[in-house]
Amino acid sequence: MKHDQSPSPNELYQEFLKHLEDLKNKAEALDLKAKYLGKNGIFSIILKDLKDAAIEVKKEIGQQCNEYKNQIEDLIRSKLDELELQEINRSLAEDWVDITLKNSNLDRGLTAAGYHPMTIVQREIEDIFTSMGFLILDGPYIEDDYHNFTALNTPADHPARDMTDTFWFKNTTEGKQRLHKYLLRTHTSTIQIRGMETYSPPFKFVGPGKVFRCERTDASHEVVFHQIEGMIVDKGISVSNLIYFMKTLLQEIFRREIEVRLRPGFFPFVEPGFELDVKCLICQGNGCSVCKQSGWLELLPCGMVHPNVLREGGIDPKIYQGLAFGLGLDRLTMMRYVIDDVRLINSGDLRFISQFKSY
Ligand code: DAH
Repeated sequence: MKHDQSPSPNELYQEFLKHLEDLKNKAEALDLKAKYLGKNGIFSIILKDLKDAAIEVKKEIGQQCNEYKNQIEDLIRSKLDELELQEINRSLAEDWVDITLKNSNLDRGLTAAGYHPMTIVQREIEDIFTSMGFLILDGPYIEDDYHNFTALNTPADHPARDMTDTFWFKNTTEGKQRLHKYLLRTHTSTIQIRGMETYSPPFKFVGPGKVFRCERTDASHEVVFHQIEGMIVDKGISVSNLIYFMKTLLQEIFRREIEVRLRPGFFPFVEPGFELDVKCLICQGNGCSVCKQSGWLELLPCGMVHPNVLREGGIDPKIYQGLAFGLGLDRLTMMRYVIDDVRLINSGDLRFISQFKSY
């Protein structure tokens, strides 16, 4: 090989730089590397051919070749990194999948999902109670006779059972006697018994949930509705605690002064028992179908826990006293949002339900 006629190392390097610009992928970069630096690559051949050259040529060209080889090596390495990144980005862009579900409600002009108004109000009330140190308890919808009635001072022959006609499950038969044992709970007061079975006094808890009654429906009565039961058991609890607590509770819930009235009410599991009514916020007390034209709504029945109930829960009424209440959640929700028919709440009607938004 005649060195004077062949391209100089610098010319070869310039040529390499041009090829480097055009590289499109890693395979081409590796080919280019092999072309210049491989065993039979351009620079290796030059170096091999230098064997027979004069010593000064050998030194000069040899040194230049090795410098260019190192530079090519570095340039190829960073080019490979760059190409690798490009390839990753390209494949990420190609593999992209839209995982969002198309919301057909939006096409139909309806807004995105939100919570049911009952859920919004229930959670708000739960927050108020937890901030006051109450536990939140749960209880089963399918209850036994004992928890729904007997333990609540309402034995089998008690006339108060007639106040709440309900849905019994098919009888279990024992001998000739048919036992009505299980039912859909008629009130959340069952949670009082379940709470006392689990905790020792002093304690305070609330138990929200659905309740069921065999009712004729109208603007203020439904077959399925919601309550929040509350119970406080401690030493030295009296009626004045009860009245003060109920007032504070309603103030927290409505966040304004509302007119209330307290009158005696009978419930077998409290003594004394009260009905706490609020001035109807739907008609401002003028009379409407929700308050049955009376201007008042029964919202918060309450009372001092009957000693028999405490005893049934394993608590000595001489040492501990209790207060209890059963807040009607549907009525509360109706007043909050000025809903004039309770049947709308379970209707599942999207025109109604989509008016409430809270995410
Ligand atoms: N459980 C009663 C009902 O559903 C409401 C009630 C009244 C609950 C008085 C109470 C109470 O805790 O003290 O009609």
